[in-house]
Amino acid sequence: MKVIREDLRLTGTKEACSAGHCGTCAVLMDGEVVLSCKYSAADAQDKQITTIEGIGTLDLDFKNNNLIGAPIVRRDALEKATGTLLYADDIALATCAHIKILRSPHHHARIRFVDKSAALAAEGVIDVLTGEDIKGTNILKMAGDDQPLLCRDKVRFIGDPVAAVA
Ligand code: FES
Repeated sequence: MKVIREDLRLTGTKEACSAGHCGTCAVLMDGEVVLSCKYSAADAQDKQITTIEGIGTLDLDFKNNNLIGAPIVRRDALEKATGTLLYADDIALATCAHIKILRSPHHHARIRFVDKSAALAAEGVIDVLTGEDIKGTNILKMAGDDQPLLCRDKVRFIGDPVAAVA
């Protein structure tokens, strides 16, 4: 995943759960669909990797779109389907700190304590944030007002964000 997204800048492959559950990181490895977040670069050595950028483009017929009674192709459909649309996470800025999110490996669990000490002692780490460090409502307004930026006392799905390491 890191080599694909950060080193090769093939950002059509997305990272969401980092736990092998969501499928946004899927690539073809020797023709088989695999979840790239579950493979190290060493595991992929000598394998043929194909990302969404390498699969090809869709041939959408925009000219013959009848706007009355017919489906309308979304303006960004082609870019989303081919992995060429850039999201904020896909834009690399050399002078910015990088953040890695620690996500829940559990479907539903209580957070009793987050020990930051090992991460804070690691070389290059600027800070470690948990839900306790978030001021205000700690809620992302996505589908509803129910997604904490970083979970405080409970995780509710595999991939729920627990801590941010910068
Ligand atoms: S990021 Fe790999 S399955 Fe979700």
